[in-house]
Amino acid sequence: MAQTGNELKPVLVFDSGIGGLTVLREARVLMPERGFIYVADDAGFPYGGWEEAPLRQRILDLFADLLATYEPEAVIVACNTAFTLAGTDLRQAFPDMRFIGTVPAIKPAAERTRSGLVSVLATPGTVKRAYTRDLIQSFAARCHVRLVGSENLARMAEAYIRGEPVSDEAVLAEIAPCFVEKDGAHTDIVVLACTHYPFLANVFRRLAPWPVDWLDPAEAIARQARRLVPLIEGAEHPEGFDFAVFTSGNPDFSTRRLMQGFGLDIATPLLKVASDR
Ligand code: DGL
Repeated sequence: MAQTGNELKPVLVFDSGIGGLTVLREARVLMPERGFIYVADDAGFPYGGWEEAPLRQRILDLFADLLATYEPEAVIVACNTAFTLAGTDLRQAFPDMRFIGTVPAIKPAAERTRSGLVSVLATPGTVKRAYTRDLIQSFAARCHVRLVGSENLARMAEAYIRGEPVSDEAVLAEIAPCFVEKDGAHTDIVVLACTHYPFLANVFRRLAPWPVDWLDPAEAIARQARRLVPLIEGAEHPEGFDFAVFTSGNPDFSTRRLMQGFGLDIATPLLKVASDR
């Protein structure tokens, strides 16, 4: 059935925390007629250190609930750690839903690098995934790809964006392994393979031992979402559909303020998935 402006379904953007906002801001530019529901599984944050089996199950259970509750038009999984693990399972479990995924931008990095030295900065989960190894084999076999799994950067990005102090030394310790020098060549591209990291991009640029391209896939993900979400002639942005849901049910004051800055009200989660992990 054709949708009219009044009944346009929203787009759901999902992440473990507030990193998916880096994708949401691009998606909104390209889909101004759509309402957005931002879901942060903050009760499970950070995803980077989880074992694969329980995290996969958590994500599938959560989505069964989310899709039944909010009936979105499409879902942007704005989390590399979640999508590289459970993207295929989600598509299999919910074949009627359009999922737009986030995976490390290894292919564009391999196409653009001049030195052949590329680094992928991600969570420990994402660097371990078979999905990530397959991307390297398929698209970057001729490059030297250094995988850097950071234990702490997602938390640091959350702190930074909430206005808390983050020390230069601590950030530098996390990004330093990305900078490789080999036979006179230097790393020239660092893939930001965690949606939290673009919030720290200016800090990374300032601290980098030499200039590199910091590849943020947010815009490409938004473009892919635009291709899959029908553009309805004359449709206007609906009222009351821009809100954020935190699975903890209890985001702190600075997170609420951040959401407000993004024009998102905080809604009570109508979800059954428990806030325990
Ligand atoms: N933002 C997430 C990603 O893109 C992960 C952060 C985390 O929960 O560790 O991978």
